[in-house]
Amino acid sequence: MDKLLIRGGHALNGEIAMSGAKNAALPILCASLLTAEALEFSNVPQLNDISTMLRLLGDMGVAITRDGDDGMVCLDGSTLNNPVASYEMVKTMRASILVLGPLLARCGEAKVSLPGGCAIGARPVDQHIKGLQAMGAEVKVEQGYVHARASRLKGARICTDMVTVTGTENLMMAACLADGETIIENAAREPEVVDLANCLVAMGARISGAGTDIVRIQGVDKLHGARHAIMPDRIETGTYLCAAAVTGGKVRLTRTSAAYLDSVVDKLLDAGCEIVIERDAIQLSAPARLKSVSLRTAPYPAFPTDMQAQFMAMNCVADGVATIRETIFENRFMHVNELMRLGANIQIEGNNAVVRGVGQLQGATVMATDLRASASLIIAGLVAQGETQIDRIYHLDRGYERIEQKLSALGASVERLR
Ligand code: UD1
Repeated sequence: MDKLLIRGGHALNGEIAMSGAKNAALPILCASLLTAEALEFSNVPQLNDISTMLRLLGDMGVAITRDGDDGMVCLDGSTLNNPVASYEMVKTMRASILVLGPLLARCGEAKVSLPGGCAIGARPVDQHIKGLQAMGAEVKVEQGYVHARASRLKGARICTDMVTVTGTENLMMAACLADGETIIENAAREPEVVDLANCLVAMGARISGAGTDIVRIQGVDKLHGARHAIMPDRIETGTYLCAAAVTGGKVRLTRTSAAYLDSVVDKLLDAGCEIVIERDAIQLSAPARLKSVSLRTAPYPAFPTDMQAQFMAMNCVADGVATIRETIFENRFMHVNELMRLGANIQIEGNNAVVRGVGQLQGATVMATDLRASASLIIAGLVAQGETQIDRIYHLDRGYERIEQKLSALGASVERLR
C-alpha cells in the first residue's frame, strides 16, 4: 500500500492549476444513463472514484472513451443493457447510489446495492428511496439491494427530511424523464447540484431553481447528447489554500473560482491571510502566524464539512483556541487522534472539537482514515518539524488528482513510497 513521506517546514510558493470537481463529475457521468445519445465531458479529474464510476457504468453497458491526459470522457448510453450495480462496485464508493435514479427513469427498473457503512457515519439512503417512491416507484430492499421498478415515474412534490446532496441529484436526474412536474423542496444548494442541472439542461431537461432550495423539473420524453465542462473542484482549491496558509506561503491557484468558496475565504481572512480574487484564479498570502478560527459545518452556502478537517489542521498551529462544530456527519473527527500523534492539542466533546494552537507540531507516522482526513494530515505534515509518514493514502487517490506533483510544484518535500 502506498505511503506519503513529507518533510515539513517548507513554505508553499508558486502557482498550480486546479482540477475538475470530483463531486460534480460523479453525478454528471451518471447522467449518461438517461440518454441513448453520446455525451462529451471535459475537465474530468483523473481519480480513483472516477475510474470506479466509469467501471460501474461500463458494467451496465455504457460505452466509454477516455483520453487520460486532457480530462475528456465520452459516454454512449445507447448500449445500456444491465441496470444493476453490484455490491462489489458500490461498497468502494457510496456515490454509486447516484445510478439508481437515472437507471430507473430510463430502464423502468434498477437493482443497486446499498452502500455499506461508511467510516464517517451511517449515511443511509432513505431519502433517495422515499423520493423515488413518491414518484410512483415500487421499491423493495432485499438482501442488501434496492430493487426499484416503475414503468414510468410520475412527477411529484418531494420534501426531503434533511438536505442531501446526492439525494437531490438522484431525484433531479430521475425527474427529468418522469411524466409531469417534480418539485424537490429542501433541495441541496451545492454548486455541484447546479453543475449537474446545467449539464442536464444541455441534454434537453427542463429544470429551474437549481442552486435554491426548491428545484422544479418538468419531465420530458427523452434527453439528447451534449457537451459539458466539469466545474473546478472547490474542495481541492480550499485544501491547497489551507496548505499554503499553514506553511506561511504565497500561492496562486488557477483554473478555479472563488465564487463557490465564500465561507472558506471568509475564514481564511479571519485567520489573517490576504486573498486576491481573480476571475479564474485565487491568490493567498499567509501571515507569519495564523489566528485560530472557529467554525460550524452546515449545508452550502455555509462552511463545508469537506473542509472541516483541513481547517482543524490549520488551527492546530494557530494562535488561540478554536471550536469546530460538525453538524453533517456524526463521526467525522477521525483525524483528531492522528493530529494528536503529531503533537496537536484537541479535545472532543460530542460533535465539538476544541483546538488549542501549539507552537510546533512534530513529524510522526499517521494513518489516513478517509479522504478529507488524509488532506488534514498532509497539511499538518507540511508544517510539522521533521518527517511525517502517512499510511493508507489510497483515500487521497480517490479525491485529489496528482497531489504529490502539485505540492512538489509549490516547493513541498513530498514523496510517494510504493
Ligand atoms: C455529498 C458529498 C460529500 C459531502 C456531503 C455533504 C458527493 C459525491 N459527496 O455526500 O463529499 O461530504 O455531500 O456535503 O457529492 N442522509 C440521510 N439519508 C439520506 C441521505 C443523507 O440520513 O437518504 C444524511 C447523511 O447521513 C448525512 C446528511 O444526510 O448525515 C448529509 O448527507 P448527504 O448530503 O446525502 O451526503 P452525500 O450526498 O453522501
